[in-house]
Amino acid sequence: MKEIFKAVQVTDDVWWVGAIDWNIRDFHGYQTKRGSTYNAYLILADKITLIDTVKAHFRGEMMARIASVVDPARIEYIVSNHSEMDHSGSLPEVIKEVNPEKVFASAVGAKTLKELFTFDREITAVKDGETLSLGNRTLTFMETRMLHWPDSMVSYLNEEQLLFSQDAFGMHLASSERFADECDPAILAYEAATYYANIVLPFSPLVLKLIEKVTAAGLVFRTIAPDHGPIWRKETGGIIGSYAKWAAQRPEARAVVVYATMWHSTEKMARAIGEGLAAGGLHVKLMSMDEVHRSDVAYELMGAGAIAVGSPTLNNHLLPNMADVLTYLKGLKPRNLIGAAFGSYGWSGEAVKEIEEILTEMKVEKAGEGIRARNVPVAEVLTRCYDLGRTMAEKVRCRL
Ligand code: FEO
Repeated sequence: MKEIFKAVQVTDDVWWVGAIDWNIRDFHGYQTKRGSTYNAYLILADKITLIDTVKAHFRGEMMARIASVVDPARIEYIVSNHSEMDHSGSLPEVIKEVNPEKVFASAVGAKTLKELFTFDREITAVKDGETLSLGNRTLTFMETRMLHWPDSMVSYLNEEQLLFSQDAFGMHLASSERFADECDPAILAYEAATYYANIVLPFSPLVLKLIEKVTAAGLVFRTIAPDHGPIWRKETGGIIGSYAKWAAQRPEARAVVVYATMWHSTEKMARAIGEGLAAGGLHVKLMSMDEVHRSDVAYELMGAGAIAVGSPTLNNHLLPNMADVLTYLKGLKPRNLIGAAFGSYGWSGEAVKEIEEILTEMKVEKAGEGIRARNVPVAEVLTRCYDLGRTMAEKVRCRL
């Protein structure tokens, strides 16, 4: 193992010692098409410090990477920035193996870790703004509660101006390259945005506050080392700027029409609404839930100005795949959307009302009454769908 898995140098004193998960394809409902990495970092300071660990079954890979640069028994401190198990799953075994002097986490992190695992030692709780001397280096801890768990914090290596940002600024991307500047920019842009849309979006107000806080503090980030995906060592302002843009959720001239269909009637309505939206000057994406994943819808919806949702009625309710994506989207709390519902039915037709209720819960502004078509949408119904698309587009354009 030691000869195969090597640490990768990030700065003079910091090494990446994580693991690459080429195969993971689902993260709690988020489809991770390109796998992921679990990043752990070793600071070779006077007090050798490990920042985060990896999923339990990747412990061997991480320990081998550590051993490629230092005897793991020399690790004196471990910092757990985030207690979710993709970063803490191997922590109990690592503690047994290296026997560090101290393990640090936020106050909520220390409590959460104790609830998740059995430890034979105390976890030392650190406060927001507290510093930890590593001898010739200093770590500053900053709590980032609810970004994206209550325990979350980040650690800043003062002398290197390096931020260990845990889940923030990461992406689910397995690659042989460790640094963002070595990766395909188009893939980075897509995966970073997909990650934000599927994980960080509900916490956007906190992202804006955090960016304000670090800007006011004058903190400089020469390197941002997240817990997933590549490390940002050049132009770190780019990813911070993207987070500021995504968190603001300012609507753009874009619309998403997401629908499910049984015998293509609801699909015909979706196409007519799409034509109306496009005629009204919006860029439109039609997404059939038979063809796309809920994570793709979340990605497309980020920054969109409008959403039209369609489902036929099955046994007095939405089709199951529409209930799935709407439940998912509701949790992600997209904001500043104009919306409408539509769908065909045979004899009862409750789906449109159900969609409208969910859109109201999501704080989506209703563009007009939902449109129902009995069995097959006739020309008059399709004209109403087209007009609804035009109305939605007008309302979006008023907000730009
Ligand atoms: Fe990558 Fe919230 O764990």
